Amino acid sequence: MTYWPEPGSFGQDQVVVARRLPFPLTLTGDGIVLREWRPDDLDDLIDLLDDPDIARWTPMPSPFDREAGVAYLKRAYQGRTSGQRLQLAITTNGGRPLGEVLLFGIDAGLKEAELGYLVGARHRRLGLASRSLSLLSAYAGSTLRLSRLLLRIDPANTASTAVARRCGYTLTGEPPILQVGPHGPSSLATWEMLTGHPGSRLDRLKNVAARRYGRRT
Ligand SMILES: CC(C)(COP(=O)(O)OP(=O)(O)OC[C@H]1O[C@@H](n2cnc3c(N)ncnc32)[C@H](O)[C@@H]1OP(=O)(O)O)[C@@H](O)C(=O)NCCC(=O)NCCS
Repeated sequence: MTYWPEPGSFGQDQVVVARRLPFPLTLTGDGIVLREWRPDDLDDLIDLLDDPDIARWTPMPSPFDREAGVAYLKRAYQGRTSGQRLQLAITTNGGRPLGEVLLFGIDAGLKEAELGYLVGARHRRLGLASRSLSLLSAYAGSTLRLSRLLLRIDPANTASTAVARRCGYTLTGEPPILQVGPHGPSSLATWEMLTGHPGSRLDRLKNVAARRYGRRT
């Protein structure tokens, strides 16, 4: 059994049993518009992802050339249409992409999923990653009804660690996940957000919304 809604049938706080993640999807809030990748994003995608920090901290091919970009957009489209993952371009207005957020590795039984993010070098330190992660996390908790959201971060990646903390994720005591990449071996720490957990950022956001509309939760 899975817990996420059919395309077009989802809504806030609605429990829907369906097989696939919604496609297409646009999420809007806090000055951010998360939208589907499009074929005409190819040049911008290459510009964003052909970057040393992205090569260092993510499994992206490097150099990230035209061939890598075409393959990436194709795989993103396949993952979206099969309903296996959310993979959305970060924009401020639905226009040019500035980065990407993902939700993947869904365990419908445990109601868990992993999230990821990246932002182009010229667009960093503007709050894009943290606002996008917060938006996607809120959607994952409230609409997809996932109860535990995970981030896997190399402890040396101070920028990503700061984003996780800013969004209300907390470091777990889970054993590090070892991986070997082009920069040698590294170990990833697991961060989590319990979406129904009292005091979580999601709860705080819900309470802010409830106060705004005159209700209390
Ligand atoms: C990690 C990354 C997505 C951050 O994106 P961003 O849009 O610059 O992040 P934000 O502007 O939302 O910053 C959120 C917080 O992180 C802090 N931060 C961002 N970059 C930082 C850096 N290089 N060093 C220290 N802190 C940093 C910000 O100051 C902010 O802190 P605050 O909560 O005190 O205000 C971006 O640096 C990136 O794409 N890196 C390469 C890919 C990557 O590492 N992805 C994550 C893999 S786990």
